[in-house]
Amino acid sequence: MSRVAIYPGSFDPMTHGHADIIRRGLVLFDRIIIAVALNIHKKPLFTLEERLAILEEEFGDLDRVVLDTFSETLLVDYAKRQGAVAILRGLRTESDFAYELQMTHMNRTLAPDVETVFLAASPNTTHISSSLIKEVARFGGDVSSAVPEHVARRLAARFSP
Ligand code: COA
Repeated sequence: MSRVAIYPGSFDPMTHGHADIIRRGLVLFDRIIIAVALNIHKKPLFTLEERLAILEEEFGDLDRVVLDTFSETLLVDYAKRQGAVAILRGLRTESDFAYELQMTHMNRTLAPDVETVFLAASPNTTHISSSLIKEVARFGGDVSSAVPEHVARRLAARFSP
């Protein structure tokens, strides 16, 4: 039996933090579907196509990682349609925990058979967030410790005068 997990998020852009969770998640699951969300609460820097292209560049050589998008649907309904047994999430801080626990309880109420599995973010990634990286890059700061080189290049190009 193939165990599929959904790793959902905005990925605007993908960071070393996301890559950490995905690569470690592959030890637990046979397949991980990275589901790029069109989040109604966020105004992205990169288009959906650009965010997918970044993920393709990073994970395109891993056949157990699949890229997809989802919008206008509940995450648990999307997960069930994909035949997933779990939603995979990373925990960096206590505030992540509070936010994630609330979402998990809501998701479990909606779909008791879809579990959420948390991985503690590796210590060298706990300070990383996509918003912070965009802010640092916007003002010419060095983001090379937080994102792959191809992402750093895209950020520099986006913010070049
Ligand atoms: N390392 C580094 N950064 C991480 C990380 C990690 N391990 N895990 C999360 N992050 C960052 C992301 O970069 C993002 O940063 P940002 O806010 O600065 O952009 C932030 O943590 C959290 O965002 P993300 O993981 O992308 O999730 P989200 O909050 O944008 O989206 C969904 C969450 C998509 C899962 C949620 O909105 C959802 O399920 N939507 C579908 C509709 C639905 O079902 N709603 C009901 C939910 S109960």
